[in-house]
Amino acid sequence: MPRAAAKKTARKGTGASKRATASDAAPRAPRKLTKAQLIAELNKDLAKEFAALIQYVQHAAALTGPQYGAIQAELVVHSNEEHMHAISLSDQIDFLGGVPAVDVGDIHISPDSKTMLELDLDGELDAIVRYKERVAQAEMLQEYGLRRALEDILIVEEEHARDLQDALEL
Ligand SMILES: [Fe+2]
Ligand SMILES: [Fe+2]
Repeated sequence: MPRAAAKKTARKGTGASKRATASDAAPRAPRKLTKAQLIAELNKDLAKEFAALIQYVQHAAALTGPQYGAIQAELVVHSNEEHMHAISLSDQIDFLGGVPAVDVGDIHISPDSKTMLELDLDGELDAIVRYKERVAQAEMLQEYGLRRALEDILIVEEEHARDLQDALEL
């Protein structure tokens, strides 16, 4: 979606706790790990992709309020992109000699539309941290094809976070 023409520079209200932003999602120092451990981490990422795609389907349907019309359509796009991430991760896990898992991570829903978007943003910021770490781990194991696939996913997660931040006027 197009970026908001005029981003707010001041936070509305007082005493609002500062929310993390995509640029705050600093990479953790990559832990040394074996290929088997990397496959296990990728399977955890895969479970979170399945959860995210379901969460976006639910939120796109349940979100209400005229101010959320644009982001509602965007959540459907996000869901489809999480599906593509699940396919990419599954292919990479198989290529590395692992078995792609079919677990689904925790799904977060709310009766409140703003809370839904905040929950979605929390998930994206978590994904950005995880994929930055995973890119570094792929690099460490000289799995350059995997690194490229993970970088492509990371770029999309950063776009997702920006879409949600714009909708939340952060
Ligand atoms: Fe994703
Ligand atoms: Fe995402």
